[in-house]
Amino acid sequence: MRKRGTVFIFSFVLIVSVLAWSTQEALAQRWCNLCAMDLQKYRLTKYILTLADGSKRYTCSIHCTAIILGKQDVGEVKVANYLTGDMIDVRKVYYLVGSDTKGVMSKVSKLAFVGKHEALEFRRGHGGELTDFDGAIKAANLDMAEDMKMLREKVKKMTQLGRVVAEANSCFACHGTEGKGGIQNPGSKTGYIPAWNSEEFTRHMNSKAKLKEMITAGVTEQMTKDPGRMADRDKARLKMPAWKGFIKGKELHALVNYIWSLRQNK
Ligand code: HEC
Repeated sequence: MRKRGTVFIFSFVLIVSVLAWSTQEALAQRWCNLCAMDLQKYRLTKYILTLADGSKRYTCSIHCTAIILGKQDVGEVKVANYLTGDMIDVRKVYYLVGSDTKGVMSKVSKLAFVGKHEALEFRRGHGGELTDFDGAIKAANLDMAEDMKMLREKVKKMTQLGRVVAEANSCFACHGTEGKGGIQNPGSKTGYIPAWNSEEFTRHMNSKAKLKEMITAGVTEQMTKDPGRMADRDKARLKMPAWKGFIKGKELHALVNYIWSLRQNK
């Protein structure tokens, strides 16, 4: 009987950990780990990178992938087949660089195809140069400076829209004007609502994807795994609301870019 109980508990713990692991995976897959763009929207140009330590990074484009490749030790890289969204090893795909399709995070599109035939077929209608992964990465790196300039301009506009979104949704009522803080929160651990330009904020919200998670769910996956942290949250009079369904798409992305612009050591 005792043994059966132990087996039961063991299986239960195993199932719970697998579930926790899969939801964490799901969250990590939702937004580009670098720029926080929606990976469902960019599923046809998505990448999955496995780093040397075994952890995974999800990106929206070859632009964000090239940035990670330039900084980190990466093992396997998979890319979506542009025609179906199936994830394939980059060593096996053909690329079309510079077709008439709109680029993601770049002025020049770099699309991956599962076979040469598919790539050539697509080229007939849309143009572009046929190459492999190395060729496409080289093109992404060549375009990097120009694309960064374009993206900085885009982010600037997004930031302005994000401020409007923050004001319209009364974020400032709790986080202070421009997120500068100064609002009390009796019962909470610190006694106040975090400011968006504080050092603690920089530590907590260390990626745009995490910011999106916090805004949509009112908590982060990491917080929910820490019972002490959740107990502190329960004791506070004011809680961070979950904005899922209220703020989404472009508005959510703009809001995140606005808050990121206020964050220290961006
Ligand atoms: C009712 C008050 C209230 C409103 C309105 C509110 N927040 Fe919050 N927010 C909080 C509280 C309280 C916390 C701290 C949560 C915690 O640590 O458990 C928080 C935390 C956060 C954090 C994480 C800060 C950190 O240092 O970990 C972000 C990001 C954030 N809020 C963004 C927003 C945005 C964006 C809006 C508007 C769309 C908003 N908040 C509206 C109360 C509020």
